[in-house]
Amino acid sequence: MAELDKPQRELATPSDWTYASAPESRDVVRLAERYGHFVGGDWLEAAETYETIAPRDEETLAAVGQGTPADVDRAVTAARAAFDDGWSSLPGSVRAKYLFRIARLLQERSREFAVLESLNGGKPIKESRDVDLPLAAAHFFYYAGWADKLEYAFPNRRPRPVGVAGQIIPWNFPLLMLAWKIAPALACGNTVVLKPAETTPLTALLFCDVLRQAELPPGVVNIVTGDGRTGAALVEHDGVDKIAFTGSTEVGKAIQRRLAGTGRRLTLELGGKAANVVFDDCALDQAIEGIVNGIYFNQGHVCCAGSRLLVQESIYEPLVAKLERRLATLRVGDPLDKNTDVGAINSAAQLAKIRELVASGEAEGAEIYQPPCVLPEQGYWFPPTVFTNVAQSYRIAQEEIFGPVLSVLTFRTPEEAVEKANNTPYGLSAGVWTEKGSRILWMAQRLRAGVVWANTYNRFDPSSPFGGYKESGFGREGGLHGLEPYLEFEE
Ligand code: NAI
Ligand code: MG
Repeated sequence: MAELDKPQRELATPSDWTYASAPESRDVVRLAERYGHFVGGDWLEAAETYETIAPRDEETLAAVGQGTPADVDRAVTAARAAFDDGWSSLPGSVRAKYLFRIARLLQERSREFAVLESLNGGKPIKESRDVDLPLAAAHFFYYAGWADKLEYAFPNRRPRPVGVAGQIIPWNFPLLMLAWKIAPALACGNTVVLKPAETTPLTALLFCDVLRQAELPPGVVNIVTGDGRTGAALVEHDGVDKIAFTGSTEVGKAIQRRLAGTGRRLTLELGGKAANVVFDDCALDQAIEGIVNGIYFNQGHVCCAGSRLLVQESIYEPLVAKLERRLATLRVGDPLDKNTDVGAINSAAQLAKIRELVASGEAEGAEIYQPPCVLPEQGYWFPPTVFTNVAQSYRIAQEEIFGPVLSVLTFRTPEEAVEKANNTPYGLSAGVWTEKGSRILWMAQRLRAGVVWANTYNRFDPSSPFGGYKESGFGREGGLHGLEPYLEFEE
């Protein structure tokens, strides 16, 4: 065709770049109307139930059991029977086989789990899909690897399992926290009664289906749902040999008081108020991404979130300008949209707590910045927020907000950075941004935090131990260290 014969068409130049949503289908998830407790490999009818919802629009998803002390007692009895009936004396290689199966099943069903996690908890699907699920599977793979090597992990110490572990987990990483708790416990030959958080029970209940597929012997893992009363009943039960708790410092302290003098073992992973320390020689754009990831990942519902940003004074202005510009590009909205960066706040109670603390920051004199963003009308939402002009004494610099709220403070010298970073009752994590390797090591030696990230933030790996100092708790999860709380040694 000659050039001239070509039809002359005006190419429409798009003038409107309105965002088209990219929702993940929820058809892959099949929910029952009502769930009981998973005890001894069977479903136990729940006498009392409550409704669990989707925080993005408050849709009711299912009725789940509010576990009573009698339910907890049945679960502990089932766990004890499974421990005595052979689980604890199985060869490690056989226990490993079950853990490998669970890991592979989680991978196979990861889309289903990711959608359900985002639906019930509110976190963006790209996080549940790319972080929670791969890491949960990785924990089972990792601890499967240790199950038949415990004697090499602890040479000459003759490790044996502790018994029945009672495990209480929070709502910010429901399936991942389940994996952190169950994988090492089983690898070491213990049996488990686990209580998920009241707002996010559904992936734990779906996990029971994986346990059946994996043909795990009945009673090795039991799941009892319910709120803090169910958790308290588990702590009270003297058939439980070890409690592992992740949650608020307040409840952690109460559990520690309750168990004092009983001889029953305890590990606590509690809150945090981590310092993310940025030196003036850092790669600034990279640091901005790390700061954003540090506090807006999972809506800031992260115990190790980098919620206190310590910036060296000489780069304060360019850093804050870049940060605010970056904030304006974060997409807040439907957790099931594949492009969402910041999802829904987990519960009405958590939203109220965030609002209260943010109001206190404004009242105490900090300067607030929130990018323009349209929040959905239904459900629980809070925009990404930065506070500047923050004094160390303000509540927003001291208390865990557990929301998408960053407090910015400044420092001049490395010594001052260390002093300010450690000026907190917590000690779970910290971040350091600098081009100087020697400074990273200098800082890491002085920061009183269980994890120190350098030129990165919120990176997790099953082989790396995680846990706190001071009011952030004690005991380590992950890595070789994560086996110890689940073992006794004949010395
Ligand atoms: P929470 O500590 O009350 O809940 C965590 C888990 O403990 C849940 O499974 C809950 O049912 C259970 N629980 C509550 N009371 C209990 C009791 N007396 N005995 C035994 N178990 C009990 O935390 P909550 O109320 O959900 O959140 C409050 C604040 O705690 C958050 O705003 C955040 O600051 C912090 N938090 C820290 C977490 C972390 O990862 N370290 C996780 C969740 C909350
Ligand atoms: Mg509570």
